[in-house]
Amino acid sequence: MNPAAPGTPARGRFLTFEGIDGAGKSSHLEAAAAWLRERVPEVVVTREPGGTPLAELLREAVLQRPMDALTEVLLVFAARRDHLQQVIEPALARGAVVLCDRFTDATFAYQGGGRGCDTAQLVQLESWVQQGRQPDLTLWFDLPAAVAAARRAAVRAPDRFEAQDEAFFERVRAGYAARAGQWPQRFVRIDSDRPAVAVRADVLEALAAHPGARSR
Ligand code: TYD
Repeated sequence: MNPAAPGTPARGRFLTFEGIDGAGKSSHLEAAAAWLRERVPEVVVTREPGGTPLAELLREAVLQRPMDALTEVLLVFAARRDHLQQVIEPALARGAVVLCDRFTDATFAYQGGGRGCDTAQLVQLESWVQQGRQPDLTLWFDLPAAVAAARRAAVRAPDRFEAQDEAFFERVRAGYAARAGQWPQRFVRIDSDRPAVAVRADVLEALAAHPGARSR
């Protein structure tokens, strides 16, 4: 990344990874972080809900405690506000590349698509909490819900979202598709119903094509 001219605020890059549970994004995120660290001075890897002590507490509640859908929305946006203020905005101001495992597209997909929350309310909260901040690039790991369910069953015990049925995850997937349609310039869809090596090649290609991943 080019150093900012004197007097110009540093401009980092904000990259997010999205997809239904079982899409494999977390392992690709680690590979992407390693690839970026060889190319840019500072990479901050973080996640949502979470990324700060307070937001991690809220994550625990959202993932484990039963609650209605609007409460879920308010908690993930409260966590997001803290995360933006404490971690994401300062890192971007330093010129870092921020690599975040999920962000607001997940709220539109899970709470909007999956749980049926009013999208207009989500749009209002998004603008209130984020003040215009959006990812520069979003890699969307997309695959059929049935394939993702089979992968999840092979590796781990489910949390509150992962325990949902296939129909829920098809609605979440449709929620991501709707967001991708609204933000075509920042979304890159990665066909994740393929061997990990092929998916990884697409991930690195998308990063290489993005200015935030340019060599020093
Ligand atoms: P995930 O990112 O898959 O982490 P892990 O791989 O460690 O389980 O889990 C986070 C869960 O939170 C996931 O099921 C999606 C859900 N979630 C929402 O419902 N809304 C949101 O806004 C975010 C960020 C996540």
